[in-house]
Amino acid sequence: MSQPRQILITSALPYANGPIHIGHLVEYIQTDIWARFQKMRGHQCWYVCADDAHGTPIMLRARQEGIAPEALIARIAAEHQADFAAFRIGFDNYHSTHSPENQHFANLIYSRNRDAGHIAQRTITQAYDPVEHMFLPDRFIKGECPKCGAADQYGDNCEACGASYSPAELKNPRSAVSGAVPEQRDSEHYFFRLRDFETMLRDWTRSGSLQKEVANKLDEWFTAGLQEWDISRDAPYFGFEIPDHPGKFFYVWLDAPIGYLASFQNLCDRTSGLDFAQFWAADATAELYHFIGKDIIYFHALFFPAMLHGAGFRTPSAIFAHGFLTVDGQKMSKSRGTFIKARTYLDHLNPEYLRYYFAAKLGSGVDDIDLNLADFTARVNSDLVGKVVNIASRCAGFIQKGFDGQLAATLAEPNLFAEFIAAGDAIAAAYEQREFNRAVRDIMALADRANQYIDEKAPWVIAKQPGREIELQAVCAMGINLFRILIGYLRPILPGTAADSEAFLQVAPLTWAELATPLLAHQIAPFKPLLTRVDPAQIAAMLAASTDDLTVAAPAAAPAPAVAVAPLAATIDYDTFAQVDLRIALIKDAKLVEGADKLLQLTLDIGGETRNVFAGIRSAYDPQTLEGRLTVMVANLAPRKMRFGVSEGMVLAAGAGGKELFLLSPDCGAEPGMRVK
Ligand code: 2FM
Ligand code: ZN
Repeated sequence: MSQPRQILITSALPYANGPIHIGHLVEYIQTDIWARFQKMRGHQCWYVCADDAHGTPIMLRARQEGIAPEALIARIAAEHQADFAAFRIGFDNYHSTHSPENQHFANLIYSRNRDAGHIAQRTITQAYDPVEHMFLPDRFIKGECPKCGAADQYGDNCEACGASYSPAELKNPRSAVSGAVPEQRDSEHYFFRLRDFETMLRDWTRSGSLQKEVANKLDEWFTAGLQEWDISRDAPYFGFEIPDHPGKFFYVWLDAPIGYLASFQNLCDRTSGLDFAQFWAADATAELYHFIGKDIIYFHALFFPAMLHGAGFRTPSAIFAHGFLTVDGQKMSKSRGTFIKARTYLDHLNPEYLRYYFAAKLGSGVDDIDLNLADFTARVNSDLVGKVVNIASRCAGFIQKGFDGQLAATLAEPNLFAEFIAAGDAIAAAYEQREFNRAVRDIMALADRANQYIDEKAPWVIAKQPGREIELQAVCAMGINLFRILIGYLRPILPGTAADSEAFLQVAPLTWAELATPLLAHQIAPFKPLLTRVDPAQIAAMLAASTDDLTVAAPAAAPAPAVAVAPLAATIDYDTFAQVDLRIALIKDAKLVEGADKLLQLTLDIGGETRNVFAGIRSAYDPQTLEGRLTVMVANLAPRKMRFGVSEGMVLAAGAGGKELFLLSPDCGAEPGMRVK
């Protein structure tokens, strides 16, 4: 083999204020597959990451929980790492941007750029919360949209009409932190002069190592003109204080990518022989790749390489951007139960399935990928269980029973074996180019070929015919050898299944090079099922649990606004309340109503009695996701005749009038028919 390459790989650093979800996992799984592939090829490859621990949302979230930001980020770091470990994301190091290494590099990169004249200083005017005594980032200002008048819109764009504007244009603006009316105040800020690096960035863009979509984006930005970048924030802020400017802090996006250096330095400090400079010095010989989402190209392809260059460090060999995840063709949605946390997925399904499905969908471009849940079930069941694992299970029993687990001493079909090995070059090339979908296609074609071989030889027939023992052992050993090659090829995608298969085969962790040497006269262990089929009920349970998450979900990055909640209705006396018969209802059936865009027709079971109810919750739910769920209904509402039929009650739902309405779900333990009081 040629010289091993030295490769450093990173994934984007997740914010330390929320859980990992399946949208994040596209990137971590993609990166992990590539890192595992490089390692299997014998390269010296390091995969590092960290939590992105600074910024206003984290500071406010901690404050809201009544804890120090350090305590919040420590808790989230533990949760993130447990989720990643369960998905077998094999980081060589996981660190934090709130670390001494990161402070060191942030200070160094800033001061070198400052000394070289790349930092400007000027006064800007910004919204200020006079109650909380803090400047307000755009997303912490809410008010009415200046274009359409929709209430409760963020400071930079309107979710109702899609308009973009500046926070100063919002009508009746309020601080989302305190509810106070923001004031305009002046403050000194520090700016990174991105334009100083235009030539260097243009050269880097043309180096040929960027995806064409990324290079095109950069060209657009060059044409629009490179803007100075505000790298400072005023106290109070959770971050690093700027060394020569007390009370001013580095903006979170300045020190976030520097976290890549910090995490790697931390790894070097505890790994003998690993030299930081070989990977990061201006003349570094190692390769450096950043896997990121397409939404953060600007930071990674402009600011970060420019700052590194300005501070005398190397620039990345390439940036690999990917698209977003949709679920069943739509944006992940809390109301549909498709905003699935990593932990919720793990409570119901094997992580290997998702790794496989994403790999089967991922190419090297920035297109979005869709997790179609029916297709997910079908592919896992037919490809992994029906094809790959099936090869081993069809052969292992005969080897165990008839031959004490001993494989034959020679290969029955050396040509077929050679064909499988020859296919490895194209599969490796597909992995290398991040065309994982192509690698999977090629591997599954080989799996079909292996099953065809077993069908033709029919070991179950041979086994019944005395005198054909040698042939039986040879055929089954051939099948096991083909299985070993397939698992070797799938190993970057399915590390857990590969480890279980290695235990079954009684071999050391497989490398790419050694796949070409067959297992002969070798003892294997008794076969245990390596993967089980996905049951659609598991998917339904996961979606239901994801919808339930809503009721306990902590607020996202922005705290709950203190403004713009619907006004409370007038009070009623207890007797009036007692007349309302609220019941737990099981949704037995849910379907679309022809001619009514807003309605779903629900069949509700309230403990033996069935009710037909039309509910205006269509915009929030796909009907299938509702079946089997519990909700609460008003059971003694007079029946109402509608154009589509009679509605026999009403389900309880919440949401803004005219927008999405969300069903209220009772807690577990509730039974259909129970009276709600
Ligand atoms: O967009 C995000 O989720 C950021 N936390 C990513 C940071 S990547 C790197 F720059 F640190
Ligand atoms: Zn609007």
